[in-house]
Amino acid sequence: MSITRSVVRGCGSYLPARTLTNHELAGMVDTSDEWIVQRTGIRERHIAAAGEYTSDMAVHAAQGALAAAGLAPQDIDLIVLATATPDNTFPASAVAVQAKLGITSGAAFDLQAVCSGFVFALSTADSMLRAGDFKRALVIGSETFSRILDWKDRTTCVIFGDGAGAVVLEAQPQSGTKADRGVLGAKLRSDGRYKDKLYVDGGPSTTGTAGYLRMEGKEVFRHAVGMMTGAITDVLDATGTTAAEIDWFVPHQANQRIIDGCAHKLGVPSEKVISTVARHGNTSAASIPLALDTAVADGRIKPGDLVMIEAMGGGFTWGAALIRW
Ligand code: ACO
Repeated sequence: MSITRSVVRGCGSYLPARTLTNHELAGMVDTSDEWIVQRTGIRERHIAAAGEYTSDMAVHAAQGALAAAGLAPQDIDLIVLATATPDNTFPASAVAVQAKLGITSGAAFDLQAVCSGFVFALSTADSMLRAGDFKRALVIGSETFSRILDWKDRTTCVIFGDGAGAVVLEAQPQSGTKADRGVLGAKLRSDGRYKDKLYVDGGPSTTGTAGYLRMEGKEVFRHAVGMMTGAITDVLDATGTTAAEIDWFVPHQANQRIIDGCAHKLGVPSEKVISTVARHGNTSAASIPLALDTAVADGRIKPGDLVMIEAMGGGFTWGAALIRW
């Protein structure tokens, strides 16, 4: 039986030039490199330059993904940009990306699921490609969290950073088995009862300002491992796959302790876990494609490998997706 799958043709990523180390942060708030590394695994993060926007970083990542795919911007007919830090309240930053890439056909829109944004965007684009209305999608995560951080709050400003990552998905006929290439399954979840655990205290409809990120870190930590491993187990069950079959586990890069906790609960050995959080901190929707691109570039993820991605973030939102590369 022939079915349509969304196959990854290429990926790309971008980090702004400016790095901010833990040691520099220790000169700004009452913290230390030792505390940050021990609690989070983060050593440095990148900060977008003045005048460098979410859409600019998204374009860099998209260009990398297009080059890896051997495609031109005109080959793309769908752009889904996951971001919680858009250039403007509207229009969608995705249309700025579309214009900067010189694409004048197809559709482009933003999707907001905070740190789960890339998993939500990938699943959304996958559904739209499988429905047959679009042929090739750019799925991008891009964030300028540095602009919504309270730089006086040591409990949040040490955790987040800026960056972007992207993949090109293409609708291709496949056999309908789990040996297929492409997105094999995805599960998305939200539970708004937790919306005050991790939020931004502003917005166009409330304060008329962009606001600052607020987080009950302990509460986020308490739910993270259970929620994400639950979504992963659902994806494994739905696709008839076991955790032992996963070649690469590419979690949302939030915190090394959460990454280790998920891998341990699933029984995935550490050598199969892709971790880049030390280098860029939590870049929200950009973190998974940043990690994917790193592992593809260094030769770990190869065509045919089974890759599990997962994320959890504000809302709470969470989810997982299984991809045969
Ligand atoms: N430097 C030094 N000390 C600090 C810092 C800091 N940057 N931040 C907090 N502290 C202090 C606290 O004030 C507290 O001091 P006290 O005992 O005198 O009151 C002490 O450290 C312990 O604070 P806790 O909040 O209990 O520390 P915890 O071990 O929970 O670590 C952390 C905090 C790292 C935020 C942790 O809760 C965590 O990782 N939570 C998950 C947050 C996360 O990943 N969010 C990302 C968004 S959601 C997602 O992407 C999954």
